[in-house]
Amino acid sequence: MRKNIIAGNWKMFKTRGEAINFVLQVADKVPSQDLVESVICVQAPVLRDMVKRQGDNLRVGAQNVHFKDSGAFTGEISAVLLAELGVTYVIIGHSERRAMFNETDETVNLKIKQALAYDLKPIVCVGESLDIREAGTTKEFVSAQVEKALEGVSESELEQIVFAYEPIWAIGTGKTATPEIAEETCRDIRNTIERLYSKDAAQKMRIQYGGSVKTSNIVELLAQEDIDGALIGGASLVPEDFVFMVNAGVQK
Ligand code: 13P
Repeated sequence: MRKNIIAGNWKMFKTRGEAINFVLQVADKVPSQDLVESVICVQAPVLRDMVKRQGDNLRVGAQNVHFKDSGAFTGEISAVLLAELGVTYVIIGHSERRAMFNETDETVNLKIKQALAYDLKPIVCVGESLDIREAGTTKEFVSAQVEKALEGVSESELEQIVFAYEPIWAIGTGKTATPEIAEETCRDIRNTIERLYSKDAAQKMRIQYGGSVKTSNIVELLAQEDIDGALIGGASLVPEDFVFMVNAGVQK
């Protein structure tokens, strides 16, 4: 059975004081890592503070990584440094970065390989725009994103990766995909993994849903067979809501 992974993506929210307060409030309240994985992905300047206070059950993730070890890349973040800081996860290819910061399928692929080289676990975001959904080509579009993301990644490396299906039209809009729609595309992602690797690899792959996940809808989303967790924006900023949603990820 795949263990659920519930991750908060704080985007560019919270001051250092607010971030530390949050982690102090929730670190002892989230269930054991044996039951469910919980992660908070924060802005780079507070990564160290969060890692220091993460407790036994909470893991810390970054929201971006560059694909080179070092160099003249003003404003970028190296995997070397993330690994040194004790960061566990890194979000790669979020639609906001694809739309606003020139992230492409090619850089997503390079970043995944770079993260893996430094033992950082990639949370790889894929998902379609409303235009693509309405044109009826979501399956082809998302499959192509998955395939390009994984170019040159071996089956053994695949175990370090988590996919997050985030339909762009559902992010920050309050418009959650219905559990059926979310499940359908998560299943398509699993089928793509099976086609590219093996049935075993596909069965092991954890696939999150993201897009307006909140306390009122997480239970029915996680009840879907191919949804193994959530990547949560807005609702993950509230300590009690985060703890509730991580608990919802404990398999019954
Ligand atoms: P919201 O949960 O705020 O819709 O954001 C989703 C998201 O982008 C998580 O990465």
